[in-house]
Amino acid sequence: MNMKKGLNVLTGDSLKILPKIESESVQSCITSPPYWGLRDYENSAQIGSESSPVDYVNNVVSIFREVKRVLRSDGTLWLNIGDGYARNGGIGKHGPNAIVGNTKKLIQKRNCKVPECWGLKDRDLMGIPWRVAFALQEDGWILRSRITWVKKNPMPESVKNRPTSATEEIFLFAKSSAYFYNQEGVREESGANLRNYWILNQEAGKYGHPAAFPRELARRCILLGSKEEQIILDPFGGSGTTGVVANELNRKAIIIELNPTYAEIAITRGASIQPQFQSFPSVINQI
Ligand SMILES: C[S@@+](CC[C@H](N)C(=O)[O-])C[C@H]1O[C@@H](n2cnc3c(N)ncnc32)[C@H](O)[C@@H]1O
Repeated sequence: MNMKKGLNVLTGDSLKILPKIESESVQSCITSPPYWGLRDYENSAQIGSESSPVDYVNNVVSIFREVKRVLRSDGTLWLNIGDGYARNGGIGKHGPNAIVGNTKKLIQKRNCKVPECWGLKDRDLMGIPWRVAFALQEDGWILRSRITWVKKNPMPESVKNRPTSATEEIFLFAKSSAYFYNQEGVREESGANLRNYWILNQEAGKYGHPAAFPRELARRCILLGSKEEQIILDPFGGSGTTGVVANELNRKAIIIELNPTYAEIAITRGASIQPQFQSFPSVINQI
């Protein structure tokens, strides 16, 4: 555990680590779980490698059930989650031997078959973000907003029979109806209330993680969802973007990451931030 400078980086499975965090200790969770079936992070506890997307949705819901417990009653969850297509087969650079960033495609492991659920057919967009959103709603979360991240620099795609995907969802969930939201934290340039589409550059790969989200995405969620000195959580921490930006904005952060290589990147990125906090409250037990 790295306890310096208000950034705790915990290496391991969120499902096992979250139960060790004190209830109602965290103000906001800002996170991005792996896509279903896309990247192989080479760990049996990884989210995203389930053989069926139904299991993926259930696993994501289980993790966020624990997140709900650790959030304060006025806390929020900002969930960036990606979609994918059901496919049979697959060849060339998009097929079974494809590399995505510095990870291998999980498609290798799931044998590139259309999953037998939801009436999916070859080439169907699976709608996973909304399936997760509805499942979280059913599990007690209040779904308050769907923000569309419009990517200024989307990944090129070789498709000729549909538009190139250039957006992702960010859902804002609240634990209760009396949740904290600082409308003044981020506003439109005109001074108007922030709109629910954010045009941001992708920064994936910039810090050694193939799926890092933009610092500006984290910045907006943190400023809207918390006050200085409060605790921000990311249970799929990756290279630690959420934690680093939280510290820069004078918030404390807990980052959980399964892959020790990425956890190490998060620690190194966090180490460059000036010390902000004399002590970090002991909200984490038995680690
Ligand atoms: C989309 S990436 C997050 C990237 C991060 N937002 C950043 O900016 O670097 C998802 C991360 O979740 C991690 N992960 C997958 N399953 C996990 C689990 N059960 N517990 C903790 N981390 C997990 C993966 O190793 C991967 O680094």
